[in-house]
Amino acid sequence: MQGQYRPLWLNDNGDLEVLDQRYLPHEKRVRTLISGADAAEAISDMTVRGAGVIGNVAAMGVYLLAREFGEDKARIKEEAMILRASRPTAVNLMWAVDRMLDVIEKSDDVLADAKAEAIAICDEDVKRSETIGKIGCDIIEKIMQEKNLEKINILTHCNAGWLAIIDSGTALAPIYEARKRGIDVHVWVDETRPRNQGANLTSWELLDAGIDHTIIADNTGGHLMQHDMVDMVITGADRVTRCGDAANKIGTYLKALAANDNGIPFYIALPLSTFDPESCNGVEEIEIEIEMRSEDEIHIMRGIDEDGKPQELRVTPIGSKGANYGFDVTPARLITGLITEAGLIEANETAIETIL
Ligand code: MRU
Repeated sequence: MQGQYRPLWLNDNGDLEVLDQRYLPHEKRVRTLISGADAAEAISDMTVRGAGVIGNVAAMGVYLLAREFGEDKARIKEEAMILRASRPTAVNLMWAVDRMLDVIEKSDDVLADAKAEAIAICDEDVKRSETIGKIGCDIIEKIMQEKNLEKINILTHCNAGWLAIIDSGTALAPIYEARKRGIDVHVWVDETRPRNQGANLTSWELLDAGIDHTIIADNTGGHLMQHDMVDMVITGADRVTRCGDAANKIGTYLKALAANDNGIPFYIALPLSTFDPESCNGVEEIEIEIEMRSEDEIHIMRGIDEDGKPQELRVTPIGSKGANYGFDVTPARLITGLITEAGLIEANETAIETIL
């Protein structure tokens, strides 16, 4: 379970292999990326997704560019800008590309240094997610003590497990750690329409780890909270401003509102690389970076038929319009705390300043 799984790795030829998340949970396919352009495509077509792993694949993509263009630093930089723009919201992407280009700029051995840096970025995420897991699990234990619970019910939205940040995730890391400590956990998994990251990916991870979970339609959380069936909410984030506003998968904000209304703690788990020190008011300033995705994702459901064959099904009237907003912003006032590798901190500018 924890510490065992990675959704990306280098093969013996130095190519990047990634677990193709578009086919999960029904099929485990690996896609090989041999160029920077391949890496950019894998990020934009969602072969890989989740803020942390997007950053990892971007870093590896810059290494692949170094393999293609040798010591031609100007060309690497030019091509890296395509990678940097392959998705707009997760700030880890820009952070990872900039860090790679910084190293390349100062390097006398571009290929070796780019490879080492990309590997370091991935390895650091392993430590980050482990620490986030421990800090988050201490919170789980505290809530259980305060409420005198034998089993805790945690609600999560989207996928922020090891498929999204190696190698135990952000939101799921405390849950994996709880499992290790022998704590009895049940997870409410929001299906996360339209791409169903919860129904397809979070459930797949939890099932594999043997963790008790139930998939729910996205609109169910508020009802469960009103009936004392949720003890805490933990989600990941794609971008958190220096003032604590958090952009995450569309629908996160509604869960935060419902949690607030019902006095349920709402935590965001994130590595420091997900902070965006440039912005403060998330609703106004991140709005321009919120991804609009194809309306096909609204109209068409994907799955397997009774023979196990992949199928696509149109579920809306032909002629109706769809609008596919990828992310929303949860204001800091609705966030109980930010679980980071630097500790549990309050979602406000003064607290965030101390760790950035
Ligand atoms: O569109 P996605 O699947 O890339 O969105 C992912 C999320 O919203 C996750 O919750 C977020 O990236 C945090 S994962 C470390």
